Amino acid sequence: MPPRARRLAEVAAAFTPMPEMPFAIAVPGGSVAPDANWRRLGNRVRASRAAAPASYGDPRGVMELRHAIADYVRTSRAVHCEAEQVVITAGTQQGLYLAGRVLLSRGDHVWAEDPAYPGMTAVLDDLDLVTTRVPVDAQGIDVDAGLAARPKARAAFVTPSHQYPLGMPMSMARRNALLAWAQRQDAWIVEDDYDSELRYAGHPFPSLQGLDPSRVIYLGTLSKVLFPSLRLGYVVAPAPLVDAFAGARALLDRHSPTGDQHVLAAYMREGLFEAHIRRIRGVYAARRATLIAALDHHMPRNVTLQPSDQGMHLLLWLPQGADDVHLAKAALADGIVVRPISPMYRVAPRPGLMLGFGGFAPEELEAAAVRLRRVMDRDGSQRRTQPRRAS
Ligand SMILES: Cc1ncc(COP(=O)(O)O)c(C=O)c1O
Repeated sequence: MPPRARRLAEVAAAFTPMPEMPFAIAVPGGSVAPDANWRRLGNRVRASRAAAPASYGDPRGVMELRHAIADYVRTSRAVHCEAEQVVITAGTQQGLYLAGRVLLSRGDHVWAEDPAYPGMTAVLDDLDLVTTRVPVDAQGIDVDAGLAARPKARAAFVTPSHQYPLGMPMSMARRNALLAWAQRQDAWIVEDDYDSELRYAGHPFPSLQGLDPSRVIYLGTLSKVLFPSLRLGYVVAPAPLVDAFAGARALLDRHSPTGDQHVLAAYMREGLFEAHIRRIRGVYAARRATLIAALDHHMPRNVTLQPSDQGMHLLLWLPQGADDVHLAKAALADGIVVRPISPMYRVAPRPGLMLGFGGFAPEELEAAAVRLRRVMDRDGSQRRTQPRRAS
């Protein structure tokens, strides 16, 4: 099998959806699914001339949606942009790929956070980029460590609102340091702002893009606040790069389905999108509080809970040497879906579990916390020593 084919087959395995059981991440059923307005509006808009069967569309996306998204990110995330800078994507996954295609060439050096989102590092590998994994501490990416390891990288791929998977926001000092590096090096920053809307306490930091629109490619997604199968997201690019993003998009799949884009544009224009976000934020906040209380009560003493003020998942740190991969497998056999954290590191893996709370009612979360404790007691993986991985 060609080496790239083997690598891509592994990627497919990693992207095969997990069963929709607690604590799977991104399961937007029940009271967090878009309400009846979404369906009604969808039927109405789809029957109208623009969204009814139509010819090829613009690879940049439907203009009404580009306007609606530009208005939204300007007010909600302090992004500096005009509608013409917005390119509609099939989600952030595609935005990451497009950013790599447009900005970088095979063999270029890039920074990625350590730990990082595996869907992002797989893109960097597939584009034959040379990745320096830069450690993350309580303030986000450690810019000094990146400078020490590979000062002349061409780009940095970061999750500043809510570091994936650890959950902390990037501090203002780090934002400034990262932007100063990018300016000095003439490098790019790819800002994956995947769940910035779901903040439960305090004020969000402004986007990196808003601090320096000339250096930053901003990526947004509808997967977290609407639903992942919609496959819609957006890139906000500096004006001179927009056509290149559109060209890269056209070569992949021309454009996103225009009907869905018109439905989303109408949903946003009529104020239903912001109302939906306000509603689900309340639901998620309650679920988050339930899960924190349940874990506080049911987890063993050698397991540490690290809640974050944002997003749809929490972290459980296991003691050093525990085998989080084994524990996740044992939990799955008991109807519990947790993501092990250690495989998301390259340099100094720490064992832990990601627990999604977004898609489940409080009583399901509570019951699953009890079951997870039982699996831990039976499996003993959180005490087992794991061989150290090569860096
Ligand atoms: C950090 C991060 N970036 C990107 C994505 C991809 O999102 P999308 O569904 O928009 O492709 C995800 C999905 O879970 C994510 O967690």
